[in-house]
Amino acid sequence: METTDDTKHFDDLDFRNPALGTPELIAKLSTWELLEHVLSLDVEATRILYLWGPPGTGKTYCAFHFGRVENGFYAVTLTDETSAAELRGHFIFRGGDAVWHNGPFVRAMLEGKRLVINEIGNANADVLALLFPILESLETAEITLPTGKTIRPAPGFHVVATDNRPPDQLPEALDDRFGVHVRVSEPHPNAIARLHPQLREVALASAGLDDERRVSPRGWLSLQSLIPVFGLEAGCQLAFGPDRGPLVFEAIVMARHAKPQKKPKRR
Ligand SMILES: Nc1ncnc2c1ncn2[C@@H]1O[C@H](COP(=O)(O)OP(=O)(O)OP(=O)(O)O)[C@@H](O)[C@H]1O
Ligand SMILES: [Mg+2]
Repeated sequence: METTDDTKHFDDLDFRNPALGTPELIAKLSTWELLEHVLSLDVEATRILYLWGPPGTGKTYCAFHFGRVENGFYAVTLTDETSAAELRGHFIFRGGDAVWHNGPFVRAMLEGKRLVINEIGNANADVLALLFPILESLETAEITLPTGKTIRPAPGFHVVATDNRPPDQLPEALDDRFGVHVRVSEPHPNAIARLHPQLREVALASAGLDDERRVSPRGWLSLQSLIPVFGLEAGCQLAFGPDRGPLVFEAIVMARHAKPQKKPKRR
């Protein structure tokens, strides 16, 4: 068989990624360190990325802030009623004339920017039919607009999709288009750092709990902003409701009392 452009480098492929370092170093990176690195790379292999994990861990925050976002980005959140027309674009009637208006998908492609698609698992058949050609490799990705114009992605165009669902719960042909899948199960350290030390401690201790008992960074940050107004107990009730609120309150109080108290200094 003849060597193709894709395989001609394989003779000396040693499965070490020079951009990242040795496999030993990669193994030491946390999920977040790896993800931040991946988001900063301008390579085809990591251009179409899927992030999934429990609510509030920082998937959307990272898609908005980390890596190649210096030129801006476009973001959409899908529901099962989102139409392909609002993502691709549509005609607007001005003074009797039909004027074409590009939607966020087409703008991100033309401007070579990041496209963030939150809750991508909600894509309906109409949206999937638009997504499939867009998520192809740069060589083949293209869509033809109702104006007749064909759009191809400019260099720099890349996609970060987020959802709570694991990839195997996505339509197979959609999942197949993601070159990289990252499970984000731990809150980002910077999100935890925003918490008061007493909340931080409980938040870190609860990070490993099962989904039903875990409080997300979003939940801790909401509680933190409620406490100065309502106090700890009512703040917990308001943030987490009458069932979970008292449990969280108890956990915080217990953590406070469990801490060894500093002895007053002798004179
Ligand atoms: N790296 C971070 N630095 C500072 N704050 C953060 C960070 N990550 C998350 N947060 C805080 O946590 C909140 C929740 O994060 P985010 O909306 O990204 O969660 P998510 O994983 O997308 O959740 P969902 O699955 O529900 O969409 C953010 O609004 C922000 O306040
Ligand atoms: Mg999100």
